[in-house]
Amino acid sequence: MAKIRVIFESGEPEHVIEFDPAKAPFHHDGQPGSILDVLLGHGIHLEHACGGNCACTTCHVIVKQGFDKLSEASEQEEDLLDKAPGLTPTSRLGCQAVIEDSDTEIVVVVPRFTINQASESA
Ligand code: FES
Repeated sequence: MAKIRVIFESGEPEHVIEFDPAKAPFHHDGQPGSILDVLLGHGIHLEHACGGNCACTTCHVIVKQGFDKLSEASEQEEDLLDKAPGLTPTSRLGCQAVIEDSDTEIVVVVPRFTINQASESA
């Protein structure tokens, strides 16, 4: 089983999900087996304004552990990430980063602000 630990910068309680990547998809948004797919399929909310189609940055997460266990980012994802508030060297779009290894633990931080929230409060 793979494990994903989700930490919210907003201070919400963290979640740990155990899942079998072979059983993807778990939901209907994002790449099957992506961080977004796993979270939504286990009842954990992650913003996904474009429906998981690699066309926004609201699903931005910062990978603290297991970055090299994720699928490689496409050029389109890299271009979008450049626009994400709070970009880090281990940032990914949750809807595109697929957990491929069934024997791994991924730790992600969900940043407090996305472009959506930033524009709402502007
Ligand atoms: S949900 Fe829009 S890029 Fe991931």
